[in-house]
Amino acid sequence: MCGIVGYVGNRRAAPLLLGALKKLEYRGYDSAGIALLTDEIAVKKCTGSVSGLSGALQMAGTCGIGHTRWATHGAPSEQNAHPHVWKRFAVVHNGIIENYKTLRAECEQRGETFYSETDSEVIAHLLEFYFQGDLIAALQRVCSRLSGSYALAVICTKCPGTVALARMRSPLVVGVGGGVWCASDMPAIAAKNRTYYTLADGEFALLSARAVFYDGEGRVIQKKPAACDAEDCIPVKKGYRHYMRKEIGETASVLENRSRMLRAWTSPAVRQALGEARRLSFVACGTAYHACLAAKCAFEALARVPCSVTVASEYRYADPILEKGELVIAVSQSGETADTIAAAELAKQRGAGVLAVVNVTDSTLAGMADHVLSVGAGREIAVAATKSFNAQLMLLYSLAATLAEAKGKRGYGDLLKELPSLASQTVSVGEGVRAWVAYFMSASSVYFIGRGADHVAALEGSLKLKEITYIPSEGYPAGELKHGTLALVEQGTPVVAVLTSERLAQKTMNAVHEVYARGARVFLVTSLAEQARSKELTGAVVIPECGEIFSPMLSVIPLQLLAYYVSVARGINPDRPRNLAKSVTVE
Ligand code: AGP
Repeated sequence: MCGIVGYVGNRRAAPLLLGALKKLEYRGYDSAGIALLTDEIAVKKCTGSVSGLSGALQMAGTCGIGHTRWATHGAPSEQNAHPHVWKRFAVVHNGIIENYKTLRAECEQRGETFYSETDSEVIAHLLEFYFQGDLIAALQRVCSRLSGSYALAVICTKCPGTVALARMRSPLVVGVGGGVWCASDMPAIAAKNRTYYTLADGEFALLSARAVFYDGEGRVIQKKPAACDAEDCIPVKKGYRHYMRKEIGETASVLENRSRMLRAWTSPAVRQALGEARRLSFVACGTAYHACLAAKCAFEALARVPCSVTVASEYRYADPILEKGELVIAVSQSGETADTIAAAELAKQRGAGVLAVVNVTDSTLAGMADHVLSVGAGREIAVAATKSFNAQLMLLYSLAATLAEAKGKRGYGDLLKELPSLASQTVSVGEGVRAWVAYFMSASSVYFIGRGADHVAALEGSLKLKEITYIPSEGYPAGELKHGTLALVEQGTPVVAVLTSERLAQKTMNAVHEVYARGARVFLVTSLAEQARSKELTGAVVIPECGEIFSPMLSVIPLQLLAYYVSVARGINPDRPRNLAKSVTVE
């Protein structure tokens, strides 16, 4: 996690670095800092968000680096904030240095002093130790000692007007135009008339009046410019108070665009890989993991292909048994989630084909996979994933429908085409959850229940609520509650039931009766209007009908809205929940 930026040019660097860092705060906002290079290195740091650095605006210098942090090693304090300085060097780092303790001990034996608890500070010490006048050579030498992941930006008092970069498993882009820039992500430095380059793992760069790129051996390389849609890259709230609400509102148009491109998604190579797969193994984290659970329901029901779904961080260390003809589908909005990348790498090493389903197509995961499909949700800024989840479902459902069609089961494609307009209707009716907010405001716990595909929506609704309202919450299979968790239901405990399956209606309603009998306040998200009339309900939202298998696409929307409105009512910024970051590039 963390965001790093760098600038070299003719303008004062401090306001430019702070402006760029602001746009990276979705990557972490525990602390921030900048370092400016003149004859010496001047540093300003703060705890909390980048706005705490306003006192740094007047700092002199036209070359500098900056950082916004999501703490991994050491508390979010000023002391642990980047940049880290040692003698002639200052460094900002995104990633994790796994062998930092050994390296630090080595430096301490030389009598060097450390000021932070971070894994990153050791990089500045090693640079000082190895530097013999050539910044790239020193950086190469240092990187050869590091295990883990890093995107690094470095300044040195011996190299005026220069920022040096290195990358390994953490994203880093360079922008040339109106100065030479670098950042962890395009939006930080997106502007018209700028050319962008993406650093690959093991590459280095030296930014001065221009950008020069080097391979792992220190040879100068020419890089092709990367595409950047400035419109898409520059985040705007379009009149909404928060990105999250804007992004929920964009769901229908995202699905509409995807629906038009339905066929184009499945290139012959992907069709072949899917068609030949005897088994599908999904790996992902968080919301993307829930999308995979929904995909499993669709692939198994429609195409009768056996599927397994594993949380990526577990997959990696589970010594997975990969069968012949198994296709691993790694799903990630950012394409930079370290756990998902590691799981996909392991699958590749063991001979499986990997299909990456990503929203960011120039991401690390997309780069290492055999096949890549873009969910095309557009940039998602809010930490809580919303429209990207729906877009992932749309793509995965389409793949399942395509596979089913190849096996002679037709008709699902037509149903998928209706989903964009049904999603639009669902956003409108979903606003009804605003009437529920008062019952959740001071709840000490909340339960989301459902069966089958409704259980997937319950899991995702629960994740949304906990991450942006900080209310403890669980998603449960409706039938499982009575095997233990029911003990936690008390007078007034909010329970949200999701019910879109005629087949399972009575069974889910049994769970509703059980929690109601124990004093719970029950809320229902359903496509079955008659169930919404139950007297046991405190609130109900009736969503359009789209069939049991595809239903999480719609039923999740009122749950996203519920989390959003409860978050706002509790005075939390839903776009930037505490302790979290949009892109989790560390293990
Ligand atoms: C979603 O609301 C969360 N912020 C989080 O669970 C996220 O889905 C997870 O970190 C995976 O991210 P990815 O899709 O970018 O891989």
